[in-house]
Amino acid sequence: MRQARARAHTNFALVKYWGKRGSALNLPAVGSISVTLAGLSTETSVTFDSAAPEDTLELNGKPASVEDTQRVSRFLDLIRGKANLTDHARVVSTNDFPTGAGLASSASGFAALALAASAAAELQLDATELSELARRGSGSAARSIFGGFVELARGQRDDGSDCVAKELAPASHWPLKVLVAVVSDAKKETGSTTGMDASRTTSPYYPAWVDTHAHDLAALRSAIADRDFALLARVTERSCMKMHAVMLATDPALVYWRGATIDCVHAVRELQKNGLPATYTIDAGPQVKVLTTAEHAAAVASRIAAVPGVLRVVESELGPAARLV
Ligand code: PMV
Repeated sequence: MRQARARAHTNFALVKYWGKRGSALNLPAVGSISVTLAGLSTETSVTFDSAAPEDTLELNGKPASVEDTQRVSRFLDLIRGKANLTDHARVVSTNDFPTGAGLASSASGFAALALAASAAAELQLDATELSELARRGSGSAARSIFGGFVELARGQRDDGSDCVAKELAPASHWPLKVLVAVVSDAKKETGSTTGMDASRTTSPYYPAWVDTHAHDLAALRSAIADRDFALLARVTERSCMKMHAVMLATDPALVYWRGATIDCVHAVRELQKNGLPATYTIDAGPQVKVLTTAEHAAAVASRIAAVPGVLRVVESELGPAARLV
């Protein structure tokens, strides 16, 4: 039996990725820049066992659905292929945030799985190779291999070898605070892979989204290097709203927002008018992620928590890379 355990933290993008240039290898059509969080992590252990009749997945103390188990099993096939291994595996995965809290888990989940499974299979992979592997599970998982500010390159090659993430700056470079306003616990209606495909094939704004992306990535890189909050906020919001414009113009429309989502946006705009450093972003779901500085975190959190329809505010900060534990 060969066993390893890893922990990885979730991340969210400031310059977003939406759309694929290749589906077999899960290649994004655009690059993205994210922050990895300190909280919201997944711990996963993988045991390859020659006596196991099939792969099994336990998620937060319970056997996972057939669908989730199959997705993990397909991912393990990649590792078995690389390691010349035929054994099945027992995968046990726990999130340190409540299940069904409407918070992303595929990023931390596939990053932790990539690290634990490759270590258990005794593959010697560096962080770049791990990121390439994690990307096959979920695009955003490639970024959770690294901590702090992270960029996932679009890459040019068809084999995906240059479509990998790297750290732009560690969390200590600019220790921003993160507040996640949870506005719904419902499971999202359209998964990101299906949604991205629909946008690419039907949204009239999709070509403009792809064409203007490099400009946003360059602006955000310089905002991070200079710790320029005003520029970071401007680029973060325009990338978020551009992505949602693409989604809204998809046929049929992808509407991930609830009423409280847009009310949180207005609350952040009000804080900005009052001179507070705060910015927001929204992914393929209704929650609103707010970034601010340590100095203003308490004031921003209480304003967001007061928005009608906000169920709770999860507080975090920028965090570390994935690691074996
Ligand atoms: O990691 P995926 O394939 O589920 O895609 C993530 C897409 C967004 O969260 C909407 C944007 C992003 O860059 O994380």
